[in-house]
Formats: sequence, structure tokens, C-alpha cells
Amino acid sequence: MVIQLRKVLISDEVDQKCVEILQKNGIEVTKNTKLSKDELLRIIPEYDGLIVRSATKVTSDVIEAGKNLKIIGRAGTGVDNIDAEAATKNGVIVMNTPGGNTLSAAEHTCTLIIALTRNLGAASMSMKEGKWDRKKFMGSELYGKTLAIIGLGRIGKEVALRMQAFGMKTIGFDPLVKPEECAAWDTEWLSLDDIWPQADYITVHTPLIPQTKHLLNDTTFAKCKKGVRVVNCARGGIIEEAALLRALESGQCAGAGLDVFVEEPPKDYTLAKHPNVVATPHLGASTVEAQTRVAEDIAQQFVDLVQGKSLFGA
Ligand code: NAD
Ligand code: MLT
Repeated sequence: MVIQLRKVLISDEVDQKCVEILQKNGIEVTKNTKLSKDELLRIIPEYDGLIVRSATKVTSDVIEAGKNLKIIGRAGTGVDNIDAEAATKNGVIVMNTPGGNTLSAAEHTCTLIIALTRNLGAASMSMKEGKWDRKKFMGSELYGKTLAIIGLGRIGKEVALRMQAFGMKTIGFDPLVKPEECAAWDTEWLSLDDIWPQADYITVHTPLIPQTKHLLNDTTFAKCKKGVRVVNCARGGIIEEAALLRALESGQCAGAGLDVFVEEPPKDYTLAKHPNVVATPHLGASTVEAQTRVAEDIAQQFVDLVQGKSLFGA
């Protein structure tokens, strides 16, 4: 398939490499990261390509207003901010850059697990307040503990490999990954019902879809070990926020590492402010390396399309 792309709009903070690659290949680029929804709706008919990260919500009205729109590119993994159904209906291709930020998201997940187990957030805050409190922040070792990974795809696998270096036993569940496949990277495939009572730590690495929404809820928290710690560096809502708060309050959950929230930025900071929560504002992919990679990848995928090479995305 060959597609003519004359003008591309980049409406989110995407690395400059993206602009350079597109321009080098004769594509005119406008980068404007400050557009209101109304402004976007007004100018989108001028463009035949749109590149976003996560701030721009590419809703059906944007797609319908984009009379010349042929392709929407997401410099990142999840395409939750793009109405893919409306795009398909209007014949607009949606592409993402799976893999470009895998290592950064995996490293951030490991950072949250480590921060949780040694109370890094709270201990650091207390020193900033001029306190030297050694008793309050007794931690626990990761060595010998069981880490459950729900979603054994790109990021889940990299998390397993890294946390095994700390001596953690890794178990996991994924309906699309075969037990032999994850056994090859020393992770035992178990059903969710077998996972809950075994896990000391649970980290989720699935898309947010009806089957994964509220995967951790009051019922599943109750099946876990008392004091389980949980991490969500995937999508807000896979762990039900109200249930998590209840589990933290009761001590059923000893700590949570959260990079993503149902609402971003959250209107309600109760979870983020909880003393047993380490929270970051969706920073999983926020590294120089990941942002360079996804910017280069999406630009190259646009160029490949213009040159009639094969399409890519997941
Ligand atoms: P991936 O597609 O490689 O892996 C996701 C896995 O989830 C797949 O193997 C799939 O089979 C599995 N899955 C689907 N439904 C499931 C279910 N019901 N139970 C268990 N597993 C299920 O994706 P990835 O690149 O590893 O990304 C994982 C998540 O991380 C996505 O939600 C992505 O948007 C998010 N992400 C977040 C950041 C961040 O900045 N925090 C960065 C990158 C990706
Ligand atoms: C993604 O889906 O790639 C992540 O949410 C990272 C991001 O773009 O911020």
C-alpha cells in the first residue's frame, strides 16, 4: 500500500527526531503541542497525518473533522487515546510503536517494586523534612519472595528477567502465552486463582480491556496474602482504585507502586498521597532513550508507508 502524505501535524511532545526524519523525506510537518480541542478540530482538515503521544484525545469528532486524514500515529504503545473504531469507520490507519519504550517501562516497574519494599518514597520525604527516622522505615528483602506478573508480553517478560536477578521467584498469567514459553524464561504459568494466594508482589502488564478492568478488586484482594504489594505501570483501572484504597487501609495490601491512574492527572490525590503508596505521574516511558526510539519509529513507519513498505504496529 502506498499513501501520499503531504502534511503531518504533531500535537504532543514527541522528540524532535520525528520532525527531522519526516522533513528529510519531503513531508511537511507542523508541531503544535498547545492546541485546544476547538483549535485541533479547526485545523485538522489541513493534514493527512497526525502524530500524538497521550495528551491529545483523538476522539471520533476529531477523526470525522479530519477530512484528509489518512493515518494517525501514536509515539508509544497504548492507543487508548485514539478512537480506533471511528478511525476504521473513516478509513484512517492507526499505528503505534510497540517495543520502543518496553525497556524503560520495565525498568520503571522494577524501580517501583524496589522503592516499595524499602519505603524509599516516605523515607526520602522524611529526610527532606529534616528527620533521621531509622526505626519507622524497616523494609523487607526481595530475595526469595514471589513476584506475580499478570500479562506476560513485552514488558512483563523484561520485568521477570530483571527481578529474577534479585532472587525473586516469578510466576504469571497470560491467556495468550503458553506455559512452555514463559518457562523458558523461568516464569511459572499459573491460573489467576493459583496466583492470588502465592504472590508477595503483583505487577500488572496488560492492556486495559473489559477482561482486565478491575482485575484487582475487593474479591481478588481478599484472595491474596495479607500484606501483598502491588504495582501498576500499565493502565489506570486494571487495579480498582477504590478497592486498592480499602486494601491499603485494612493492611491487606502493604503497599502500591502506581505510575498510572484512571484519571490523568487525577482529580483526587488520595491514593497518591497514601503513606504506603509510591506514585509517579505516568513516567514509565519518560526516558531520553525511549522517547528518541518511539519518535524515530513512528516517523520511519510513516515514511515506510509513503514508500510502499509494509505496515507495522500491534
Ligand atoms: P504487550 O501487548 O506486549 O503485552 C500485553 C500482554 O497482556 C499480552 O501478552 C496479552 O496477551 C496480555 N493480556 C491480555 N489480556 C490479558 C488478561 N485478561 N490477563 C492477563 N494477560 C492478558 O504489551 P506491553 O508492551 O507489554 O504493554 C503492557 C501495558 O503497559 C500496556 O497497557 C501498555 O499500554 C502499558 N505501557 C505503559 C507505559 C507507561 O508509561 N507506564 C509504557 C509502555 C506501555
Ligand atoms: C505507552 O502506552 O506507550 C505509555 O503509556 C507511555 C507514554 O506514551 O507515555
